[in-house]
Amino acid sequence: METIKTEAPENQVSRQQKYLDRLIARYTERTKTSKQLAQAYRPVLADNRGLPGLSFRSKEMFYPIVAKRSQGSRIWDVDGNEYIDITMGLGVNLFGHNPPFIKEALAEQLHKGIQLGPQSEFAGEVAELICDLTGMDRVTFSNTGTEAVMTAIRLARLATGRNKIAIFSGSYHGHFDGVLVKKQTIEGNPCVVPLAPGVLPNVADNVLILDYGNPQSFDVIKAHEQELAAVLVVPVQTGRPDLQPKIFLQQLRQLTQESGIVLIFDEMVTGFRIHPGGAQAWFGVKADIATYGKIVGGGMPIGIIAGQVDYMDGIDGGMWNYGDASYPQAKTTFFAGTFCRHPLAMAAARAVLKHLKTQGPALQERLNQRTSQFVQTLNTYFEAEGFSLRMANFGSFFAPASLGSLPSDSCSPSDTTISSETLSLLVYHLINRGVHLLVRGSIFLSTAHTDEDIDFIIQAMKDSFEELREGGFLPSYCNRGGS
Ligand SMILES: Cc1ncc(COP(=O)(O)O)c(C=O)c1O
Repeated sequence: METIKTEAPENQVSRQQKYLDRLIARYTERTKTSKQLAQAYRPVLADNRGLPGLSFRSKEMFYPIVAKRSQGSRIWDVDGNEYIDITMGLGVNLFGHNPPFIKEALAEQLHKGIQLGPQSEFAGEVAELICDLTGMDRVTFSNTGTEAVMTAIRLARLATGRNKIAIFSGSYHGHFDGVLVKKQTIEGNPCVVPLAPGVLPNVADNVLILDYGNPQSFDVIKAHEQELAAVLVVPVQTGRPDLQPKIFLQQLRQLTQESGIVLIFDEMVTGFRIHPGGAQAWFGVKADIATYGKIVGGGMPIGIIAGQVDYMDGIDGGMWNYGDASYPQAKTTFFAGTFCRHPLAMAAARAVLKHLKTQGPALQERLNQRTSQFVQTLNTYFEAEGFSLRMANFGSFFAPASLGSLPSDSCSPSDTTISSETLSLLVYHLINRGVHLLVRGSIFLSTAHTDEDIDFIIQAMKDSFEELREGGFLPSYCNRGGS
C-alpha cells in the first residue's frame, strides 16, 4: 500500500537549506570559470537570458555555462567538463553540433569570401529547395525568426488592408513590438496590454489574444473578421507539446479562408522537425504564409518567410520576364536588411536542405519515435515514483506536460506537485551530472544522440530526482511500499 510521508515544516526547511548548500558548493566548484566570467563581465555585458528564473535561494548558481567547443551530441565548457547537450541550440541543431556536411559547406564559403551586396550564389537554389519541401510558392530571407514573423504580418496587412492580428496565448513569436502583448484584467475587464515597458500601448490595440485549441476562439475571430489581417499560430507550442489540436487547426484554416484572413503558421520550431514539410504536412493544413528559421540555418542566423504567390509578391511585385512588356505589378510593402541572404547562411541552409531532401521523412520519423520512447520511459519512472510530473513531446522536442491534462495520481496533487523551483534545481543537478540544458528552456534531441546518450540522460534524471527527494524538495512524496 502507498503511504504519504510528512515532515515538520521546520525540519524540511533546514533539510532543504543543508542540501542547497551542498548542491551550490558542488556546482560552483565544477563550473567555476563560467561563474567567474559572468561576474567579471557583468559590468559591461548586459545579459538577460534566463533572468526570469533567478531565485534568491539559488542565486549563486545563476550564470550561463560557457561553452568552449562542441561535437555531435556533446559540448565542452571552459572548465573542461563534458556534457550531453539537450538544449541543442534552442532547437537549431537537429543533426547535432558541428555536423561534417554543414562544417564543410561553411568552410568552403568562408574560403570563397563573404560577399554582401551582390546576390548570393545559393539564394535561388535554397528558395527552390524550401518550396520543394514545404509546398510553398515563393520565399524570401531575413536574419532571425523575429524578423520573419514581423514581415509575414506586414505582408498580411498589405494583402488585406486590415490592421488587427490574432495570436494565441502561450505562443512566442519573437521580440518585435507588434507581438509583445499579454492579457490582463483591468477593473474586471479582460484587456490586451504591452508585455513590457518600452512597448507602445497602442500596439495592443491591434492584437487579439485567443485561447489555443478552444473552439470559442472561432467566435472571437468571426466577431472581428472584417478587421483581422491575420491569425498567427504556432501549431504546437514549445511549452505545451501535449497540445496538438489537429481538428482545431483544420477548422481555423477553413474559417480564415472563408473570412479572407491570412493564416500564418509560425514554424520556427516545428518546421523541418516534425516532418520535412513541417506542421503543415503533419496536420494536413496549408497556411497562406509560413515562417521558418532555426534548423534550416544549420547554426547560422536565418529567418524565412515562405508563402503563396498572392502574399509573397508583396515583397518584389511578382513575376516578370525579359524581352516582353511584363513588369512587377503587385503592390509591395517595405522589406530590407543588410545581412539578408548572407552567403554563410545560404551555404549552410543549402547543405541542410539537400541533406533533408536526400534523407526523406525517415530521418524525422526515426528521431520522433526515439524521442517518444525516451519520454515514455521517463513517464513510467515518474508514475512508479508517484511524481505529479509527466513529459510530453512533439517530434523531437519535449517539455513537462500541463499538469491539468494529466491522469489523476495515486497521491493527492497538493502533496506531490513538483514546484518550478524544484524543476530549476533539477537542471542544476543534471548539469552537475553532465547533461546540459537551460533553466526553463525547451529540450531537444538530435540525430546525433545515441542510445547510450539517451540511457545516460535517463539515469541522470533518476539520480537527480533521488537527490531532490533526499534534499526535501519533493515534499510529502509518495513512498511506494514504505510505512
Ligand atoms: C515560434 C517562434 N517564433 C519566433 C521565434 C523568434 O525567432 P528568433 O529567436 O530567431 O528571432 C521563436 C524563437 O524561439 C519561436 O520559437
